[in-house]
Amino acid sequence: MQIHETIASLRAVRRKTARMALVPTMGNLHEGHIALMTQARDHADQVVATIFVNRLQFRPGEDFEKYPRTFAADCERLEAAGVEHLFAPTEAEMYPRLQTYQIEPPPEQAGILDGEFRPGHFRGVATVVMKLFQIAQPDVALFGKKDYQQLMVIRNMTQEFNLPIEIIGGETVRAADGLALSSRNGYLSTAERAEAPHLFRILTKVVEAIRAGSRNLSLLEEGAIAELQDSGWIPDYVALRKKLDLQLPSAHDSGLLVLAAARLGSTRLIDNLEV
Ligand code: PAF
Repeated sequence: MQIHETIASLRAVRRKTARMALVPTMGNLHEGHIALMTQARDHADQVVATIFVNRLQFRPGEDFEKYPRTFAADCERLEAAGVEHLFAPTEAEMYPRLQTYQIEPPPEQAGILDGEFRPGHFRGVATVVMKLFQIAQPDVALFGKKDYQQLMVIRNMTQEFNLPIEIIGGETVRAADGLALSSRNGYLSTAERAEAPHLFRILTKVVEAIRAGSRNLSLLEEGAIAELQDSGWIPDYVALRKKLDLQLPSAHDSGLLVLAAARLGSTRLIDNLEV
């Protein structure tokens, strides 16, 4: 695998590549990331992974400083997955000066759900992804569905800016007990790790209730929030939304998704399930 620290070096690869797939990450790679790399292989002749912990998408007081940086182990995993190129720029390469031009996604997409609790987060994500797209100029780019709202924002941005990039969502990869894989799972203590799959079980119950005909969506959301609180979580939200645009569904809409974000100790976990 070739490691590129500079934009110039990655651009040289782009010029020689017929079809390129890009898989942006912040590193600390797990099976969810590796599944995206494998999926990328079906869409391109060269797969480019990126590792860059993007300061712009973290709010003051969030985990930018402590975000796990495991570069050597990540390189080994990417090599084993057959990834041809890794773009791992320094902060000075990505942001040589203050990033004064930024992508501001509309509040109805980026100010809800996670955006309500992490104001400015999706501006930071959209800005770095736009930069990565301009740098790599991929034909296709892959993002995990665990970050469903992020995937929607990136999809819409790509469409509205007419970027010639196909956006593909990868299925959430889960541990055997249902916990969605996430780099932040590493922050959990042993006791918290044992409790963490409860989030998936609660979302599963909501999905099953809807499939069984329950249509009182707010009651289902409130029940899930109460169950999380009773088990020691601090929920930000449990929300039933339309899969297409994450807007509020009416009682008879189909194509729903239940999304949740909640804190277990000091770790904030997110998950979602399609109904
Ligand atoms: O999902 C992530 O890891 C990040 O938000 C992304 C898309 C790499 C942008 O920094």
